[in-house]
Amino acid sequence: MRALLNTALAALLAATTLLAGCERPPVDTVQRGYRGTGMELVYNPRTAVIVAESNQAPPVTEAASPDGPKAGQIYKNLQLLGHLSIGEFTRQMAAITAWIAPQEGCNYCHNPENLGDDSKYTKVVARRMIQMTQHINADWKPHVAATGVTCYTCHRGKAVPANVWFAPEPPRANANFIGDKAGQNTPLKVVGLSSLPYDPFGPYLLGAQTIGVGGATALPSDHVASIVHTEQTYGLMMHLSNSLGVNCTYCHNTRNFKEWDGAPPQRTTAWHGIRMTRDLNNQYIVPLTAAFPAARLGPTGDVAKVNCATCHQGVYKPLYGAPMAKDYPALLAPAAPSDGLPPPVAEARRSVLYFGVDTPVLEGEQAKGLDLLVATMATDRQAKARISGYHSAAGNVEHNHELAKQRAFTVRDAMLAAGVPEARVILAKPAQTAANLSGEDPEARRVEVVIEK
Ligand code: HEC
Ligand code: HEC
Ligand code: HEC
Ligand code: HEC
Repeated sequence: MRALLNTALAALLAATTLLAGCERPPVDTVQRGYRGTGMELVYNPRTAVIVAESNQAPPVTEAASPDGPKAGQIYKNLQLLGHLSIGEFTRQMAAITAWIAPQEGCNYCHNPENLGDDSKYTKVVARRMIQMTQHINADWKPHVAATGVTCYTCHRGKAVPANVWFAPEPPRANANFIGDKAGQNTPLKVVGLSSLPYDPFGPYLLGAQTIGVGGATALPSDHVASIVHTEQTYGLMMHLSNSLGVNCTYCHNTRNFKEWDGAPPQRTTAWHGIRMTRDLNNQYIVPLTAAFPAARLGPTGDVAKVNCATCHQGVYKPLYGAPMAKDYPALLAPAAPSDGLPPPVAEARRSVLYFGVDTPVLEGEQAKGLDLLVATMATDRQAKARISGYHSAAGNVEHNHELAKQRAFTVRDAMLAAGVPEARVILAKPAQTAANLSGEDPEARRVEVVIEK
C-alpha cells in the first residue's frame, strides 16, 4: 500500500514538474510567414507586460555644448575621451554613472583624491568597455544597425549585467556505470531545463565550432555532424529563442531548419550576432580576466562573459530597438585624429610593486597591483613595459642579484601569460640606488615598471 502511495506521489510530482515548463492559457499567436507554413510566434500576454516594463530605455539628458576647451587639455589621463568638450565629457561621465553605478556614484570607478588615478579595477575595466562599445557601434552594424548600444544596453543600472555566463564546472566523474554523459542530463535553465548539453556557450560564443546538425556532403567525409554536435546546436538554439523571447520560427522556416531560402531576414541578423558575441568575448572580455577580483570570477576562474541575453534580456531588439546610442556620440566610434584629440600624455607612468623578504612572489595587495598592471598592458595596445628588479642590501650579493632578476621575471611572465607580445615587455638593468645600501629595507625589495607609449 505504502509503495503504491509512493509511486502515485512520484507520478504526481513528475507531472507537476513537467507542467511547470508550460504556460497557463490563454496565449496569443502572431502569423509571421506565409499562411499554412505554421510560422507563428506564440506569446503570453501576461509575461509580455512584465518584460515590456523592464525593457524601457532611460531618459536622455540634454546634449552639452561642443564649444570651449577640450577635456584632454584640462585632465591628464584621458586616453579615449580627450576630444570631447568639457561639457560633453561631464555629461558622458554622469550618464555612465547612472548606467553602471547609480547608487555608488563616481567613486565606484574613481579615487576621489585623484580622478586621473587608475588604481581601481573598475576604471581600468570601464575604459576597455568604452572601446568595446565603440567597436560594437562602428564595426558591427550588420547586427546592431543604426540603433547601436550604450553601456545601459547590458548594464541597466547594475555593475554586473543581469545576464552573463561562466564556463560550468565539469560534472564529477561518475562512480557508477553511467560513464561519460557527454554533458547531458544536467538540466540547466540556459537550455530550457532540457537534457541538452550543459554548456551551450563555450563551443560557439568563445570557440568557433561549426553550428549544424547535418553534413554538407552525401557521404560522411568532412562534416561535423554527430549526436554531440547536434545536441550542442539545439542547446544554443534554445538560448537564442529564450534570449529574444521568440520561437524557432522567428528565424527559421521550420519546414527545414538548415535552409536559408525562405528563412526570415532575422536569421541573417542572428548569424552576425553569433560572430559579434564571439568577437566581444575573445577581444575584450576574456583579456580583462586578470583585472577582476576573485569574487567576480566563475567556478573555473573565468570572467563573466556576454551571450545574446546580455543585451537582449528577453526581447527581439534590446530595449525594443530604442536608438539610445545616437545621443552619446562619444560611444559611436573611437576618436579620429581629426577630432582634435590632444596627443596622449607623453610622461610615462611608473608603478612599483613591493616584495616580502627573500621571495620573488607577490602577495596580498601587491599581487592585486600586479593583476591590474597586467590588465592595463593587455588592453593598451601601444604601451611598452620596462621592468627592473631590485633587492635589499641584507644578505649575499650573488643571491640578491638572482632574487632581483627573479622578481622582474615574475612581472614579465605574468604579462606574457596575459597575451602581451614579448616585444612590448622589456627587462631593463636596474639603476643603482641608495636604498640598496641600507640593510633589510622594505622599500628596496621591489620591481619598478615604467609604462611607455
Ligand atoms: C564606470 C566607471 C566610471 C564612473 C562611474 C565615472 N567615471 Fe570618470 N572616468 C572613467 C574612465 C574609464 C575615465 C578615463 C577615460 C579616458 O581614458 O578617456 C574617466 C575619467 C574621468 C576624469 C578625467 C580624470 C583625469 O585627470 O584624467 C574625470 C574628471 C572624471 N572621470 C569624472 C567623473 C565624475 C565627476 C564622475 C561621476 C559623475 C565619474 N567620472 C564617474 C570611468 C568612470
Ligand atoms: C555587451 C555588453 C556590455 C556593454 C555594452 C558594456 N558592458 Fe560593462 N560589463 C559587461 C560584462 C559581461 C562585464 C563583466 C561582469 C563582471 O563585472 O563580472 C562588465 C563589467 C563592467 C564593469 C566592472 C563592474 C564590476 O563591478 O565588476 C564596469 C565598471 C563596466 N562593465 C563598465 C562599462 C561601461 C562604462 C560601459 C559603456 C561604455 C560598459 N560597461 C558596456 C558587459 C557590457
Ligand atoms: C534568433 C534567430 C534564431 C532562432 C530563434 C533559432 N535559430 Fe536556429 N539557427 C539560427 C542561425 C543564425 C543558424 C545558423 C548558425 C550558423 O551557421 O552560424 C541556425 C542554425 C540552426 C540549425 C542548424 C542547421 C544546420 O545547418 O544543420 C538548427 C537545427 C536550428 N538552428 C534549429 C533551431 C531550433 C530548433 C530553434 C528553436 C528552439 C531555433 N533554431 C531557433 C538562428 C536562430
Ligand atoms: C551588444 C549587444 C547585443 C548582443 C550581444 C546581441 N545583440 Fe542582437 N541586437 C542588438 C541590437 C542593438 C539590435 C537592434 C538592431 C536594429 O535595430 O535593427 C539587435 C537585433 C537583433 C535581431 C533582429 C531582430 C529583428 O526583429 O529585426 C536578432 C535576430 C538578434 N539581434 C539576435 C541576436 C542573437 C542570436 C544574439 C546572440 C548570438 C544577439 N542578437 C546578441 C544587440 C545585441
